[in-house]
Amino acid sequence: MAQASEFSGTIGTRGALYKKRRDALVKSTGGPVVVCAAYETGPFRFCQDSSFFYFTGLEEPGAVCLIAVNGHATLFVPQYASSRAQWVSDALAISDATALEHGFDAVVALGDCCPGHSIALQGCEAQWRELAACLTDLVKACGRPDGSTKIFTDLHALVAWKLCKLVSGLEACLADSRPFIAQLRRCKDKEEIGLLYRAAELTMQAQAAAACAIKPGVTEAEVQAALEYAFTAAGAYPAFPSIVASGKRATVLHATPIAINIGQQDCVVVDCGACVDRYCADVTRTYPSAGTFTARQAQIYDAVLQIQEHVASLAQPGYWLRNDQVPEKSLYHCALAKCAELGYAEYWVHSISHFVGLDVHDVGDASKPLAEGDVITIEPGLYLPQESLGVRIEDMYWIIKDGAICLTEDLPRDRKAIEELAQSAFE
Ligand code: GLY
Ligand code: MN
Repeated sequence: MAQASEFSGTIGTRGALYKKRRDALVKSTGGPVVVCAAYETGPFRFCQDSSFFYFTGLEEPGAVCLIAVNGHATLFVPQYASSRAQWVSDALAISDATALEHGFDAVVALGDCCPGHSIALQGCEAQWRELAACLTDLVKACGRPDGSTKIFTDLHALVAWKLCKLVSGLEACLADSRPFIAQLRRCKDKEEIGLLYRAAELTMQAQAAAACAIKPGVTEAEVQAALEYAFTAAGAYPAFPSIVASGKRATVLHATPIAINIGQQDCVVVDCGACVDRYCADVTRTYPSAGTFTARQAQIYDAVLQIQEHVASLAQPGYWLRNDQVPEKSLYHCALAKCAELGYAEYWVHSISHFVGLDVHDVGDASKPLAEGDVITIEPGLYLPQESLGVRIEDMYWIIKDGAICLTEDLPRDRKAIEELAQSAFE
């Protein structure tokens, strides 16, 4: 084992939370796990790997977390060049105190000092020396009666390739950690539900700002600016590229806003989500640019809302997001059946739900039925390009023992209430 600082202090509440998650992970894999941080890819906002964040709470690029079967967790941290402090003002190498606060048992300096000021993915072998030394020990234990049969990881392909060159026998010992991680991340704890509520709250404010901005002659891009102002001013950022799509463009599912004027009587789909403290929201509303829907728009709007309410009334443990073998308990099939009953099946084009959490389309195996702690979207839409009309309504639901709680209940979705909100643009 490489030179490590070992700690024996008491870990705090946050450290205990990450430790609990890491212990659950090795319990589910039955073998040691290597979890890797993301790398910096240029002078842009660094985006940490969601799973690394889930198990460590650290925004550190290029770090590696090794969890032994007994839960002993070692953090490998990259070594900064001195120029980093000049270029990345808040860059401070992880101190032992921080590592202890996040529930680690030991810290090891990882490889040679990174060249330049950013922590980019390095191909050089010196970068992986310490981790390779640890893995060599694990490989020796691999397959022995007292050792694990596999080392679980989702190593970046380049890193895996480098490490396999450095550690003989490693390749045969590697197993995919992702299914185990996804299963754990699916079930949100109370802390995560609180963070999702915060992201949802800010997204509802952004939706209200969008409704206030939408009127004929205003551009989609101006509406985007209005809603994203709410995110930026609150220290959040868009969880995905915001969608503001009017008229025929509302029938293109991921149309990003452009400097096109909204028409006199368009439906405008606004699909956006804040990312706050790493947790994402995803909420869609469809507004009438005129302040009221036309009769045809109202007909389609009411159908979409009915489908959403129907699916929301069913969502509970034991149902699937989609299961072709059990259509009566599959939210997708139930949505489609309701849509057909209303006579609009030909305008249905996408799925009904996805998990949401640290990622907006969060990890989780949809072939396993819903369970308490899942957070999903329910997002029916109907798209009629020949009529330049698209409507989507999307909310977030927390699956509890016997149903689902809507995290975005406070944002109106009833047609009359949406019209009232849309009319705020004319006040
Ligand atoms: N809200 C965008 C999507 O779920 O794809
Ligand atoms: Mn969605």
